[in-house]
Amino acid sequence: TIKGFAFDLDGVITDTARFHAQAWHKTADAVGTPWSETLANGLRGVSRMDSLELILRTGGHEQDYTQAQKEALAQQKNDNYQALIQQLTPADILPGILQFLDELQQAHYLLSIASASKNAPFILDKLGIADRFDGIVDPNTLHQGKPDPEIFIRAAEIIHLPPTQVIGIEDAIAGIAAINAAGEVSVGIGDPQVLSAANINFKDTQALTLKHIQQSVYFQS
Ligand code: BG6
Ligand code: MG
Repeated sequence: TIKGFAFDLDGVITDTARFHAQAWHKTADAVGTPWSETLANGLRGVSRMDSLELILRTGGHEQDYTQAQKEALAQQKNDNYQALIQQLTPADILPGILQFLDELQQAHYLLSIASASKNAPFILDKLGIADRFDGIVDPNTLHQGKPDPEIFIRAAEIIHLPPTQVIGIEDAIAGIAAINAAGEVSVGIGDPQVLSAANINFKDTQALTLKHIQQSVYFQS
């Protein structure tokens, strides 16, 4: 029986995925790694340091920076990113998300946040929806980032459910892999060709409704 939902934040609840991409694009330019759609998709959902490593590896620069220089690059990226998210307001919640949260709350599902972002509490606060969730995973306490299942296992734990009773919602390839490995039902938001590993697909948040999820063979009421 499904009793809870674990939400990714960036790219699912609000369109901050584009701000992450914008800031990483700058980093890629600074280190001389060519930007591409494949790189952009590979970065989605991935932790700050893992993202930097992927950018360096993609350009063949993994040996070119000391640990201290890598930390400075990551800090610079976060500074650039934080400048972009200062102006977020409740109007930046993606279409259909508030209605979806309403539906879930009325049906008494438990809700948690499984975001790798250390900026997640700030963003939820700016969007005015922090109090809608029963739990938020603290990414500082994690040993492994997405695609490792740890964050989604924790997202079930904090709402006191086994993963089999939780549906995870993600816009990232790494995130869908994490949900699947956690043993949860995966919902992908975005291009179904890109998120082909998801159990259930929606092209955007507008299409995301409880009714459509309940119609899926993966939904066990
Ligand atoms: C994820 C984003 O939610 O958080 C990634 O999808 C980001 O793009 C990751 O790298 C870590 O976020 P932050 O804000 O702690 O650098
Ligand atoms: Mg995301």
